[in-house]
Amino acid sequence: MAAIIAIQITERAKQNQSFVLGLATGSTPILLYKELIRLHREDGLSFANVISFNLDEYYGLPADDPQSYHEFMRANLFSQIDLPPHQAHIPGGVIPRDQVPAHCSGYEKAIKEAGGIDLQILGIGGSGHIGFNEPPSDERSTTRLVSLDPITRRDAADSFSGIGNVPTEAITMGVKTILRSRQVFMMAWGENKASIVARSLQESPSPALPATQLQRHPDVHYLLDESAASKISQ
Ligand code: GLP
Repeated sequence: MAAIIAIQITERAKQNQSFVLGLATGSTPILLYKELIRLHREDGLSFANVISFNLDEYYGLPADDPQSYHEFMRANLFSQIDLPPHQAHIPGGVIPRDQVPAHCSGYEKAIKEAGGIDLQILGIGGSGHIGFNEPPSDERSTTRLVSLDPITRRDAADSFSGIGNVPTEAITMGVKTILRSRQVFMMAWGENKASIVARSLQESPSPALPATQLQRHPDVHYLLDESAASKISQ
């Protein structure tokens, strides 16, 4: 995965063009980010021509909160590569409520102005979410404020030291925003992802299981380990 990204970034750089990368958080992409950092340090991979857009951010968490996705990205990637800070975009966590719609349409506009997302990295949540597109999220949805599903809040409880501390809302790119990306790479590791991965591939596309809507994308790739793939029927 890191090699695929590195080749595309380098090809664009040779043509003096930017590469627009959609980034995800959670435990799943950490190994990928480690490998991108290694390629930067050891092989000279530069991110100077990369423009990034993160999928989502918890609503209510300031950028310097240790649990925020701003902080996650700083710690796990941005602080260790040469991506110019003004080229990295993450939805705001503390936008006043009355300014959220303008912030969300501004995020969509920024993606369009960058030329659209070339490659979007995704994980999958226990609720079947992609980004924070919780059920029901349909294929017309764009960047917006959403309520988090109880499954999502329960899954995050440990890292927040209790479910009561998990934010109840988030700002996320929509299903439509994700489906507009030219290429999508969904990654999942481990047995606890096996059921939701199988359902996302085998159930008909429906807002009730947002990840099923990736079936409508013409260039989507699933990267799974054996455990995460174990419940897909042959
Ligand atoms: C969060 C993120 C998702 C991510 C999911 C899975 O809810 N908003 O983008 O895919 O977690 O997390 P993990 O990779 O830790 O299993």
